[in-house]
Amino acid sequence: MATSGFKKIPEEEEEAAAAASSSTVTSALLYNTTFSSQTHTHTLCATMSSAEGTDLGRVLCIITGASRGFGRTIAREMSRLVKPDSALLLVARSADDLRALQAELAESEAGRAGLKAQSVVADVGQMEGLENIVRASEENFSEEIDHMILINNAASLGDVSRYAKSFTDMGEVDSYLSLNVSSSLCLSARVLQAFPQRPCLRRTVVNVTSLCALQPFPSWVLYCTGKAAREMAFRVLAEEEPDVRVLNYSPGPLDTSMQVEARSRTADPTIRKSFSDMCAQGKLLTCEASCAKLMKLLLEDSYTSGAHIDVYDV
Ligand SMILES: NC(=O)c1ccc[n+]([C@@H]2O[C@H](COP(=O)([O-])OP(=O)(O)OC[C@H]3O[C@@H](n4cnc5c(N)ncnc54)[C@H](OP(=O)(O)O)[C@@H]3O)[C@@H](O)[C@H]2O)c1
Repeated sequence: MATSGFKKIPEEEEEAAAAASSSTVTSALLYNTTFSSQTHTHTLCATMSSAEGTDLGRVLCIITGASRGFGRTIAREMSRLVKPDSALLLVARSADDLRALQAELAESEAGRAGLKAQSVVADVGQMEGLENIVRASEENFSEEIDHMILINNAASLGDVSRYAKSFTDMGEVDSYLSLNVSSSLCLSARVLQAFPQRPCLRRTVVNVTSLCALQPFPSWVLYCTGKAAREMAFRVLAEEEPDVRVLNYSPGPLDTSMQVEARSRTADPTIRKSFSDMCAQGKLLTCEASCAKLMKLLLEDSYTSGAHIDVYDV
C-alpha cells in the first residue's frame, strides 16, 4: 500500500515498519523527514491516544458534503471510530438532510456515548461559508481534542454535456474551479491556521480525489481539471507541512447521485456507455465498501503524506 502513491518509501524503511507494525513511533519515521523533538512529543501523544490503531482518537472532524453520498457515509463510519466526546461537523447546503443525519448520529451508540454531531449549513464555494465552518470548528474544539481531521469531500461534476472547445466563458469556468479547487485549498488553510501545530494534536487533511485527477475523460474537462488541480494543491501542502498528514483518497466509482448524473448527462458516448455498463453489471462500489478502505488508511496511518491512494490499491 505504501508504494501506491507518488513517493515510494525505500524498501528498508518498509521492512522496518513491518517488523514493528504496532509501533506508531516507527511508522512516524516513514513520513517525518525531520524528526524534531516537537514531532517526537506529538508522536508519543498520538501513540497514547490511538493505541494499536483501533480508534482515531478524540477527534474534531469536519466533513464537507456530508448531506448525502460518500460524505454522509464517512460521517457514519467516522462516528464509530472516534473516542467519546469527539465532535463531527457536518457541512453542506441541504439543511434538512444534515439535520436528519445529525439526529441519526445523536441516537446512535456513539451519540449516546458522548459524540457530538453538529450541522453547519454552508456553501463551501463562498467565503462566508468557509468562515462559518471555521467558526463552528473553533466553537467545538476543546483542550481534550487530540486529532483534528478535515475531509474535503464536497464537489460537483460540472457540465459534462459539452466538450472542452465549448467552454468560452471564463466566468463559468472560474465558478466551477472556485467551488471545486479554491474552496478546498482555502478551507484547509483556514483550518490549519485555526489549529496550529502543537504537542498532542495530530492534524490530518483528506482530499477526496478521483481517477480523473490523473486521466483525461472526454467531455469531463471541468471535473478532470478541478480534480487534478485540487490534488496538486494537497501534494504541495504535504511537502510544505511535514507534521500534517495529507491523503488524496480516490474512492472509485460510487453508487451515488453523481454517478446518475455521469450516466445521464455525459456527452461522450464511449464514456457514457462505460458508466452505464458499470452500473448495469453491478460494478459500482457502495459508499460503505469504499469508506471502509478510507478508514483503514486513516487508522493505520502509514500512507505517504500527499500520496494519491486508490480504493483498489488498499
Ligand atoms: N460518485 C463517484 O463515482 C465518485 C468517484 C470518484 C470520486 N468521487 C468524489 O467523491 C466525493 C463525493 O461524491 P458523491 O458521489 O458522494 O457526490 P454527491 O452524491 O453528488 O454529493 C456531493 C456532496 O457535496 C455537497 N456539495 C456540493 N456542492 C456544495 C457546495 N457548494 N457547498 C457545500 N456542499 C456542497 C452536496 O451537498 P449539498 O448539495 O447539500 O450542498 C453533497 O453532500 C466528491 O469529491 C466526488 O468528486 C465520486
